[in-house]
Amino acid sequence: MSHTPLIFSGNSNPTLAEEIAKRLKVHVGKALVNKFKNEETRVEIGENVRGSEVFVVQSICKAPNGNGVNDALMELLLMIDALRRASAARITAVIPYYGYAKQDKKTKGREPISAKVVANLLKVTGAKRLVTMDLHAAQIQGFFDTPVDNLLALPTLCDFLKREGLKGNEIVVVSPDAGGVHRAELFAKRLESSLAIVFKRRPEPDVSEVTDIVGDVAGKIAVVVDDMISTGGTLAKAAEAIKARGATKVYTVATHGIFAGDAVNVLESSVIEKIIITNTIPFADLKDHPKFVQLSIAQTFADAISRITTNRSVSELFNGEDTGAQDPSPVLETATV
Ligand code: R5P
Repeated sequence: MSHTPLIFSGNSNPTLAEEIAKRLKVHVGKALVNKFKNEETRVEIGENVRGSEVFVVQSICKAPNGNGVNDALMELLLMIDALRRASAARITAVIPYYGYAKQDKKTKGREPISAKVVANLLKVTGAKRLVTMDLHAAQIQGFFDTPVDNLLALPTLCDFLKREGLKGNEIVVVSPDAGGVHRAELFAKRLESSLAIVFKRRPEPDVSEVTDIVGDVAGKIAVVVDDMISTGGTLAKAAEAIKARGATKVYTVATHGIFAGDAVNVLESSVIEKIIITNTIPFADLKDHPKFVQLSIAQTFADAISRITTNRSVSELFNGEDTGAQDPSPVLETATV
């Protein structure tokens, strides 16, 4: 099998796929990925892939061309199927944002486990491994019997915070809910800061309420760390509560900026100073929103793909303080903290 990876992309995050390919010094493979008139997804791979190591880059999220989350999933599955039938030697699904991840268990009777359904679909279509980033729950790796590389945005995000002086005793890292405490602890360790925890409850799906805060935030700059932002309610309400407890400023960082519905307005009109996210999910009109900062995690994916192709360790990427991105991660739009 060739050591040169072939990169293909669907429509959900083509800019990131291009960036990853550029850093690997390859091009994004030719593929027609659109729809038939009847709305069914149409895929046609435009290059020979026989015997090749192939990576399909596709986040399971809304696409800049207006396609929905389910279109992204279907494009991914049909591309993998087409590549397998075209005799690719090994196909890796590169899913920077693994959608459906929040539905990873039954919380009440007669619910699906959607994250497992996605894993099953990837398996039957022929993906031999998964490369993803900051899975909502690390246990989702267990839904796969093939290798999963769950990359971290933490080094990229922490490098940025440090460059902006957000580190040490002046800041407090805050988890916006009990489920995120481990993630926040890792950030607090890297940033050499203290830790606080917001307790929230969800009276109904997509609605959050703060019930308590544990830890000292008074007189400090709070950096609230989450894996994803959907409606923005969790972070907006956490920021309000943290400020009411005496924090001087509140910044937020999250790997995946989904920004469902009115989320951008909710965050923009909140007390949050800056909302720092990565480009696992595209955010097209950033320049109109000065509160938002988007960092590129392309180098991390490029490094992982390069290591997989040459049978080197992927976990080594995350052993050191600054190894997530070899070059400082580009800020995709100018915005200073
Ligand atoms: C919850 O478990 C997640 O880590 C996020 O806190 C949550 O998905 C954010 O959702 P929203 O922005 O809708 O409050």
